[in-house]
Amino acid sequence: MTPQAEKALGAILSSKNYREICPDTARRVFEEALKRHKGLKEADKAARNELHRITGAFMTANEMREASGLAGQYAREPEKAVSEALSLHASTRERSDCMKALYDKVFEKGMPGSIFDYACGLNPLYLASIGVKTVRGCDIQGGCVRILNEWAACAGWDLQAECADVLSYLVPGSYDMALMMKLLPLLEGQRTGSAAKLLESCPAKRILATFPTRTLGGRNVGMEGHYTAFLHDILPHGIRIEDEFTQGTEKCFLLTKEM
Ligand SMILES: C[S@@+](CC[C@H](N)C(=O)[O-])C[C@H]1O[C@@H](n2cnc3c(N)ncnc32)[C@H](O)[C@@H]1O
Repeated sequence: MTPQAEKALGAILSSKNYREICPDTARRVFEEALKRHKGLKEADKAARNELHRITGAFMTANEMREASGLAGQYAREPEKAVSEALSLHASTRERSDCMKALYDKVFEKGMPGSIFDYACGLNPLYLASIGVKTVRGCDIQGGCVRILNEWAACAGWDLQAECADVLSYLVPGSYDMALMMKLLPLLEGQRTGSAAKLLESCPAKRILATFPTRTLGGRNVGMEGHYTAFLHDILPHGIRIEDEFTQGTEKCFLLTKEM
């Protein structure tokens, strides 16, 4: 990249909303925008729009500050603190009315001992709070990752999150279950073919893949049918759908993988 482009990328990386974002992701998005746009100004705008679409839209810097502050409240009022923190990320806020029902169904054959949560947002807070013994996760939003690790230290949970881009991250070890919640179409939009690749490389026998059935604004535009067809299209050989159900505004698929 030219020195001017490096400077523009640096400005994004020090901005209020993206100062904790995974630097490799910001660079990837910026380099792709530079390929598509002639002028630096247009590329800068396109990169910021893309970063908003893939991460910024789900949680603001102020919400991160609030969620971080709630960790100290956990010891006094655990349930209230967890539910308030979960309401500060759009994805966990959207499932707040049916979180318990969703996981009761997912865990009806027993709670897994270990879970890896891809592009986790704040979802691991819920998993650890209901007693999943070992929880690991990753997200490109380093603010979410920091919050999860702060909470784990306050609550004494075996929960660790890493700031990493799923497109280039290989999960170490193996897990009883992996979660890909509201992730696969978002990932496919970043790189064609990446959703199937993630399923193939996932080191867990059971996978929960979920899809939104409404836009972030709450509109029903036929996403349920569209994403069901999408999953059927990309499902790699050796992975089958064991169960599917809709909970609130989320279409859920429980997948089993031959290992
Ligand atoms: C729709 S939210 C889902 C969050 C969480 N899975 C849930 O359902 O509660 C998408 C999340 O994916 C993260 N994300 C987007 N692209 C990513 C990538 N390439 N690698 C890792 N995380 C990513 C965003 O920062 C955001 O937290």
